[in-house]
Amino acid sequence: MVYTDNNNIALETKDLCKKIPLAAGSSLNILHNLSLSVAYATSVAITGTSGSGKTTLLGLLAGLDIPTSGRICLFEQDISQLNEDERAALRLGKVGFVFQSFHLMDNLSALENVMLPLELSTTTRSGEIKELAISALESVGLPDRLEHLPKRLSGGEQQRVALARAFVSQPKILFADEPTGNLDQETGDEIIELLFGLQKQYQTTLVMVTHDKDLASQCDVHYTLQNHQLVVQA
Ligand SMILES: Nc1ncnc2c1ncn2[C@@H]1O[C@H](COP(=O)(O)OP(=O)(O)OP(=O)(O)O)[C@@H](O)[C@H]1O
Ligand SMILES: [Mg+2]
Repeated sequence: MVYTDNNNIALETKDLCKKIPLAAGSSLNILHNLSLSVAYATSVAITGTSGSGKTTLLGLLAGLDIPTSGRICLFEQDISQLNEDERAALRLGKVGFVFQSFHLMDNLSALENVMLPLELSTTTRSGEIKELAISALESVGLPDRLEHLPKRLSGGEQQRVALARAFVSQPKILFADEPTGNLDQETGDEIIELLFGLQKQYQTTLVMVTHDKDLASQCDVHYTLQNHQLVVQA
């Protein structure tokens, strides 16, 4: 089910609210009646002050967290009605993530990190997995770091591995939470160039949280999260 007649919508929310119960019966209002509509293959940036709820919103949109009320439609499925296993099944192979702090598995090599989402997938043939992962690492410029553990990679290299892992299953949508937040300007610019390049190549829908207004302005739509809602920036 979608809330508009437009079947080109990858992600849509209606009256989305997130409150966190606090001690003594009070609650913290993070998101209130938030609406968002994201078309397939477009890019959306979300900026906002620290603590405004950007990471909370991404977690909800990706089905990692559940709203207090309101609805979220991802690929025409109302994820607020799905249980955790059903949400995980919907994400598998269709939703990618990139985080500020890379979130690679410490004990796995770069190659094994990138192979992981394909090993979890039911649609990729096991004989193809290694080849696809090597090709993904080549596409982010790391053909000679396959056996490196994350701790032996620079921050920029770790984020390249994270990009390869995110795109290797060719997700329909990618959520990125401050993907350049832990990188210097030059390395961050390289990561963004790669990210936009892969997004265009695979026609991925991109929802990116960032503190960088220049970067946000490169996306098709730029929202600011303020007063618990999204406001379009001109
Ligand atoms: N589980 C929780 N329990 C209590 N408070 C929470 C919880 N999760 C988030 N918050 C609060 O909700 C607010 C929004 O947090 P969130 O991490 O979404 O902000 P953000 O916009 O991503 O900030 P930043 O730019 O610093 O990453 C914060 O004030 C945070 O303390
Ligand atoms: Mg955050």
